[in-house]
Amino acid sequence: MATVLSVSGSPSATSRTARLLRHLDRRLVAQGHEVIPLDVRTLPAEALLGADVRHPAIAEAAALFDRADGIVIGTPVYKAAYSGLLKSLLDLLPQYALAGKTVLPLATGGTTAHVLAIDYALRPVLSSMGAGHIVQGWFTLDTDIAVTDDGHLSVAPGAAEALAQVVDQFAAALGGRTTLLAAAG
Ligand SMILES: Cc1cc2nc3c(=O)[nH]c(=O)nc-3n(C[C@H](O)[C@H](O)[C@H](O)COP(=O)(O)O)c2cc1C
Repeated sequence: MATVLSVSGSPSATSRTARLLRHLDRRLVAQGHEVIPLDVRTLPAEALLGADVRHPAIAEAAALFDRADGIVIGTPVYKAAYSGLLKSLLDLLPQYALAGKTVLPLATGGTTAHVLAIDYALRPVLSSMGAGHIVQGWFTLDTDIAVTDDGHLSVAPGAAEALAQVVDQFAAALGGRTTLLAAAG
């Protein structure tokens, strides 16, 4: 069993990205992993914008990154890149906060013109933070994510299938890593 930190970088109170992540969290939990959700928007704005790394909430978030074996990073595409909110937290973490971690990058966006934002914008940041293994990410169109009247999340079939596949690949990569660590004692 691995510990996964599932980070949503959307500032929206009705975020599709966050809802999608919480939906995918359940798939990882069903596979036996411990999943800790983190919505960056719930962290204190003044601490994020003032780079207050000593603020207890920021220190606690940093400790969650440290503790996790795997990290799911979800962001809405904003201006052809990841959200500023996500970057405001990543900038407060140690340079190699992702060292040895398996990372699954996910994005939601309004246009397929920015389907590569994960690869040209987010992935280099994750690499610079020492991520051990960044598995294949996935971009989901916002129109493929809907909330039904009873509050349930519904994902268009094609997108749901692709997301299940990348989550399972991430889980498999996590499994390989925890087996290696166990073997190393
Ligand atoms: C300020 C802003 C900028 C955006 N810029 C882009 C963009 O450049 N490319 C894109 O595909 N979608 C863009 N979008 C659409 C969002 O990425 C998309 O609706 C996303 O699913 C929103 O996720 P959320 O509900 O989690 O915040 C933008 C939305 C906002 C509010």
